[in-house]
Amino acid sequence: MAWYENAVIYQIYPRSFQDSNSDGIGDLKGIVRRLPYIKSLGVDAIWLSPIYKSPMKDFGYDVSDYRQIDGIFGSMEDFETLVAEAHAQGLKVMMAMVLNHSSDQHPWFEKSRSREGKYTDFYIWKDNVPNNWKACFGGSAWTFDQKRGQYYLHSFLKEQPDLNWHDEVCRNTIFDEVRFYLDKGVDGFRLDVINAVGKDPQLRSNPFMFGETPRPYDMQNHIYDRNTEYTHEYIRQLRSVIEEYDDRALLGEIMIQGKSQMEQSASYTGQNNDELQLCFEFSMTKKRLNAQNLRKTAKTWYELNPLDKGKTPCWVLSNHDVPRAITRAGNSESMGRLLAVYLLIQRGCSVIYFGEELGLQSKDFPRKEIQDPLGKQYWPIMKGRDAERRPMQWDYSPNMGFSDSKPWLEPNYSRSWRHLTVEWQEHDRDTMLALYRKLIALRKSRAEIGLADAFFCSGVPSSVLAYSFTKDGRCTAVILNMSRKTRTIRLDTVAPGVSGLDVALCTYDRVNIAVRNNEISLPAGLGVVLTN
Ligand code: GLC
Ligand code: CA
Repeated sequence: MAWYENAVIYQIYPRSFQDSNSDGIGDLKGIVRRLPYIKSLGVDAIWLSPIYKSPMKDFGYDVSDYRQIDGIFGSMEDFETLVAEAHAQGLKVMMAMVLNHSSDQHPWFEKSRSREGKYTDFYIWKDNVPNNWKACFGGSAWTFDQKRGQYYLHSFLKEQPDLNWHDEVCRNTIFDEVRFYLDKGVDGFRLDVINAVGKDPQLRSNPFMFGETPRPYDMQNHIYDRNTEYTHEYIRQLRSVIEEYDDRALLGEIMIQGKSQMEQSASYTGQNNDELQLCFEFSMTKKRLNAQNLRKTAKTWYELNPLDKGKTPCWVLSNHDVPRAITRAGNSESMGRLLAVYLLIQRGCSVIYFGEELGLQSKDFPRKEIQDPLGKQYWPIMKGRDAERRPMQWDYSPNMGFSDSKPWLEPNYSRSWRHLTVEWQEHDRDTMLALYRKLIALRKSRAEIGLADAFFCSGVPSSVLAYSFTKDGRCTAVILNMSRKTRTIRLDTVAPGVSGLDVALCTYDRVNIAVRNNEISLPAGLGVVLTN
């Protein structure tokens, strides 16, 4: 089994994880310092949001040189140290790769503006605005460039021009940037908005659609600026680049519209498993977090990524672009714990967003403190993504141990913040942190979770989520009571034909739950994992 097929990956947003040089911004040396903590969680890999040289208009998602580390985060040497130290501790390292667009400060764009040699068609240039495409971060997707005398396409900020993947020279140049990091021993990439790389060659207008928000970008059906057959072809080419190396993985961010596009997301593993090994599925970052939705989503996601076709489902609830799952669940700690079980006791790859293991919450900023371009443009319809990018909460020292000078984003000093630090949670065996460690250890010790698709039982109330993994008589079963009442569940409905199930773990250690007469009685808001 390849490492990513049963991996727990920890996402770090480097600006917000650990500052090491007192400038209020997290950096690579800070991450190195915290590797033992990350390792102690039991995770297999980390993925880092972008650390490349960048004017930081979109906090690193606007790259001006793929082969340099931005000075804010450190140096190339610091990066190499991070990779070496992580590997020495048995952790894989994945990097974000932003290949749909670069920064307008990238030399490629400078050269393309002046039609310099092979760079002439590195971006998408037109004499007139050819269609109705909108930029995700506001306004038209086309901006006029005085120097070249043409319009260029940008799916995000005007400072993020889209690269022209139809140009073979451009594509090969991009692939060489990828090889540069593969040569440095990086284990894989989290590919930014990868389903948008192959634009419709005719640049046709997107049809109108009632979207999930009134933002003009959401009021279009993105059939021509995303998900074209070309995109699939180019991803196959990228896959063959990483196949030149052993054991590397591609994890795709598939931008979806509406609350869910599960088939679309799943299609990016490729009909012959020749595209991405892993694709994020974002429905549960958008839909209401309740047992019914979780069950439906998980069931469908397994159906779309079947084991017998060699597919690996990838699970995620939180990241740097959406309010943290626990906050979407009303900042309810018991719900956060149930979601931890859902996230981690699954076949495939589970991705934790830093601080999720402590139950960190998203808290909005007042308008004048907003840093995120999305929030600046669309407040109050969209308040931006700063709330989920607040610093990691390490300890009780100033700025919660994140930095000894003013952090770029204010830490979340909400009422019970002390309980949401590593310092507090390390000293109690019934904390969220302890639960994450136990769940990861349990997942690693039960092979059947990785070897069987989940069985979803229907004989339970709809507000209870129950599923099980059985292989050769060995079974792990999950029962999550998301209702407001105590529920009694028969174990043979959750795991038919399985005997000897007993409670291996409860979402609250201090509650004593036992199996009696093949039944379990679960108080409201509690969850258990059972094994035989
Ligand atoms: C992805 C990133 C997001 C970024 C956008 C543009 O969605 O996750 O943070 O703003 O791409 O690069
Ligand atoms: Ca710093």
